[in-house]
Amino acid sequence: MAKSTPGDYDAVREDIKALLHQPEYDDGSAGPVLVRLAWHSAGTYDAETDTGGSNGAGMRYEAEGGDPANAGLQHARVFLEPIKAAHSWITYADLWTLAGVVAVEAMGGPAVPWQPGRTDYVDDSKLPPPGRLPDGALGADHVRAIFYRMGFNDQEIVALCGAHNLGRCHSDRSGFEGAWVNNPTRFSNQYFKLLSGVEWKEKTLENGMRQFYYIDEDSEEELMMLPTDMALWFDDKFRPYVEKYAKDKDTFFADFSKVFNKLLELGIERDASGRVTNTDNVKGGYHS
Ligand code: HEM
Repeated sequence: MAKSTPGDYDAVREDIKALLHQPEYDDGSAGPVLVRLAWHSAGTYDAETDTGGSNGAGMRYEAEGGDPANAGLQHARVFLEPIKAAHSWITYADLWTLAGVVAVEAMGGPAVPWQPGRTDYVDDSKLPPPGRLPDGALGADHVRAIFYRMGFNDQEIVALCGAHNLGRCHSDRSGFEGAWVNNPTRFSNQYFKLLSGVEWKEKTLENGMRQFYYIDEDSEEELMMLPTDMALWFDDKFRPYVEKYAKDKDTFFADFSKVFNKLLELGIERDASGRVTNTDNVKGGYHS
């Protein structure tokens, strides 16, 4: 990996793309877990107290990284270490969010606007407490409480959850098991087609976790949905968006692009030229 000039984000993008192919890991791609890293780095945001969010890359510290919801994301961070070593000028906060955006597009998803400028300074008082991220075992009220806290509406929640087209659940991370779709390294609207189009049955895993399953007729592969995924289908206000995205891939892609960008920008203030203006929150904090 060649070193780059500070600010050469295209060079970083190229190196991220090159590391996505990981034949020994999961379904052969680092892409899904990188998307999850980007989302969990940002999804701690609380609009009311202006705490959490991707600024600061707080997951490097036990207070945030040790949240059980972040189990497994060390794999994503380790994948990105050689990139950070080669392009040492990029902040972790920018690298983690950029990796998510590059992975989505490289796996066949939409281009997502991305702006740099996040800092790795962490203000202690702004580190999010554990419990800010959603619990897959719960229902629609919980999903709304978590995402309304960040400032999203019902349509945006459904679009964001379409990221479950990618990747899988691991029993040693979340306790849930399996992938949502047959081809979990290809970004598409298949998740919505399955959610709306087939019959899901409930089951309890040996570890006591409750999830939903469907055996795909062609591949005989068992696919899964979390209780929170099913909540999007069972809830009268979420369901119309699931139906819309199942029928209209282009609208899903356009909406996902917008809302993923919004997620990664939570808590970041910019001036008219796009420069981040709240990077000096070091008061008594850590810095890397
Ligand atoms: C994986 C829960 C929303 C992206 C997972 C896993 C759980 C989960 C339990 C499995 C983790 C593991 O065992 O490795 C939820 C819940 C959500 C939610 C409860 C909201 C109600 C989102 C959003 C995104 C996202 C908004 C991105 C925009 C992913 C990806 C994976 C994943 C890409 C696969 C990771 C991998 O393959 O390692 N999610 N998630 N999720 N989630 Fe979500």
